[in-house]
Amino acid sequence: MSIDNRPDTVAAVNAKALQDEAVSAIAAADTLAAVDELRIRYLGRKSDLKQALRSVRDRETGMALNEAREVIEAAVDSRRKALEEAELARSLAEGAVDVTLPSELLARADGEPLLARRRGHLHPTTQIRRELEDVFLGLGYEVDEGREVETGYYNFDALNMPPWHPARSPLASLFVDDDTVLRTETSPAQIHKLESQPPPIYMVSLGRVYRRETIDPTHYPIFHQVEGLAIDRNLTMADLKGTLLYVMRALFGEEREVRFRTHYFPFTEPSMEPDVSCFECGGAGCRICKHSGWIEMGGSGMVDPAVLENCGVDPEEWQGFAFGLGLERIAQLRYGIGDIRLNWDSDVRFLRQF
Ligand code: FA5
Repeated sequence: MSIDNRPDTVAAVNAKALQDEAVSAIAAADTLAAVDELRIRYLGRKSDLKQALRSVRDRETGMALNEAREVIEAAVDSRRKALEEAELARSLAEGAVDVTLPSELLARADGEPLLARRRGHLHPTTQIRRELEDVFLGLGYEVDEGREVETGYYNFDALNMPPWHPARSPLASLFVDDDTVLRTETSPAQIHKLESQPPPIYMVSLGRVYRRETIDPTHYPIFHQVEGLAIDRNLTMADLKGTLLYVMRALFGEEREVRFRTHYFPFTEPSMEPDVSCFECGGAGCRICKHSGWIEMGGSGMVDPAVLENCGVDPEEWQGFAFGLGLERIAQLRYGIGDIRLNWDSDVRFLRQF
């Protein structure tokens, strides 16, 4: 009994024995929950140690108990840390991915494939663009970069469009300033080519063009064209027709035919609009060809001698043809896309279909 007649619990607690017991129990705990249980048992409010500390009367016992408390606290902390690190190492090892494996073999530990997400792919317009590039490269054409912003000279003057031509109105075209315009067609690429390289020339140029256009299912203010230019000795309309026939068959099938309707473009003479026989009905007439059996593809013609002269090329020696086709038009026909606007909506439900 102590001086104040309370049972001598302090003396009953052997600090060192308690410390040893706690430390070895904590070292043997193999889960964080077990460590926590031991912490409560040895250091909690109702633990022998805490009770003893509360009623301690002499300095020496107090020091011994406090030392035991510190040692047990340190043991709890270090065991908890060790178990946490082991847990982290285990989950890292389980979730580890060997990124050098072929993607179809990559799987989580539970067997779920890691790359269940679908891969993206090229936009239908880009697919048509690449396909056309391949077809023309196969024919021996070069693929030239064009410029999307042109001066009035390249977009209009050099292509024989006089100052009063309706395409030069800001109501029809998108001007950056009085003499700078977002190109309204890919035809200025003809002029850049004629200026930069003496004939013979076999070139295509594909890219975006811009027009102040009212949007409808087949017209959009931004669209893509492929421009073709062939300049050589003795080229005739038969070469133009044979080239377009070859390209249309490559795009729409071997049974296709091409016909020309006369038209007017300022930079070709004569000018023609090429039609391709309808790939859906074979020419019998259907909804796609508006019951005519033919589908309009773009513009074409023999390069006007004045254009060659503008570029310092002698039209007596060199002749050739040019054509321009709309890529969205080709993609719409090829894939049965009813509305050109879908191309610009970035809706994956649409894009995934191609
Ligand atoms: C031209 O742009 C001429 N440069 C074509 C040409 C080139 C003629 C070389 C002679 C020699 P056109 O304005 O008709 O022609 O346009 C050609 C094609 O572009 C059209 O047949 C159509 O497929 C496509 N196109 C025209 N406007 C739009 C539009 N707003 N949206 C989508 N496609 C369009």
